[in-house]
Amino acid sequence: MKTIDIQATRSYPVIIGENLLEDIGCIVSKVHAPCKAAIISDSNVWSVYGDLVASSLESTGYCACNFVFPAGESSKNSGTYLEILNFLADNQLTRTDLIVALGGGVVGDMAGFAAATYLRGVPYIQVPTSLLAMVDSSVGGKTAIDLPAGKNLAGAFYQPKCVICDYSVLNTLPEDIFRDGCSEVIKYGILYDPELFQHLYASGLDFDREYVISRCVELKRNVVLEDEFDTGARQKLNLGHTFGHAIEKNSNFTVTHGQAVAIGMAIAARASSTYGICEAAITEAIISILEKFKLPVTTDYSDQDLYAATLSDKKRAGMNVNLILPRHIGSCIIQATTINELQPFIKAGL
Ligand code: GLY
Repeated sequence: MKTIDIQATRSYPVIIGENLLEDIGCIVSKVHAPCKAAIISDSNVWSVYGDLVASSLESTGYCACNFVFPAGESSKNSGTYLEILNFLADNQLTRTDLIVALGGGVVGDMAGFAAATYLRGVPYIQVPTSLLAMVDSSVGGKTAIDLPAGKNLAGAFYQPKCVICDYSVLNTLPEDIFRDGCSEVIKYGILYDPELFQHLYASGLDFDREYVISRCVELKRNVVLEDEFDTGARQKLNLGHTFGHAIEKNSNFTVTHGQAVAIGMAIAARASSTYGICEAAITEAIISILEKFKLPVTTDYSDQDLYAATLSDKKRAGMNVNLILPRHIGSCIIQATTINELQPFIKAGL
């Protein structure tokens, strides 16, 4: 088991290990004394792990209640968010109680946003059950819901009291969802760590889970320490995301986040070598690792389709979009690009 401390507005541990869920009550009690615990989960995760988590919490003295919504990105909306708030109110949760986000990125983002806003903030813990949520969305306090105009358009920075990553739950994750998370893991290698990149390249899906998850969380810790509120260095974590979100939106979210980010990274890599930002060999290495993980690297959407969707992306700043572009494996730049320059850039990456 490993613990990585995140220093932010509120400091908290990320605990990474195997078979942690059965002891979750005991682990949680070290950061928050027994109280009412509202578990927010989705239908897939709850059916496998709900009873285990609820009974561990109850046996440690928590009074558990649960709100379960249909799994999938389409639930990450204002309707489900309001249902969660009403559930918390109906169960008379108070500011000394606790929200437990049990699930992948959708659950964590939405339960986190409910925690940030219900009673102007109640404590919550993240229990990520997907690889993507373990290495990225559960750490660093970003919470959000989608609006019809785009992804994550309403949200808050609100740090959890702890994050519990039990990577044995990845054994029950469908392979396509596991691959989705690999896209974010590969992203960390491209952004910061050639050694991590090499390990992933050599191992494929059989990578060392404890090493890889811990390393990604350490890298994210460094980013959050430097730029908790996403005004500078943290923007690099958006590698592949500007184009990725445009693909997700065009597909009406039938292309998953991880697949879309993989295509987005491939677009960024191709355009970067065309524009002389990186050498062709770097682009080839990025495409090649994505293909090794059987992640998609092309899309049928046109530069026009992607450009139009990018204009409503929350990362747009006035007439500029900050693109994250690879120079080497382990080093990327933030390049302010005007919206006029954007469409030819996308075209170069397709
Ligand atoms: N998921 C990107 C970030 O936390 O900044």
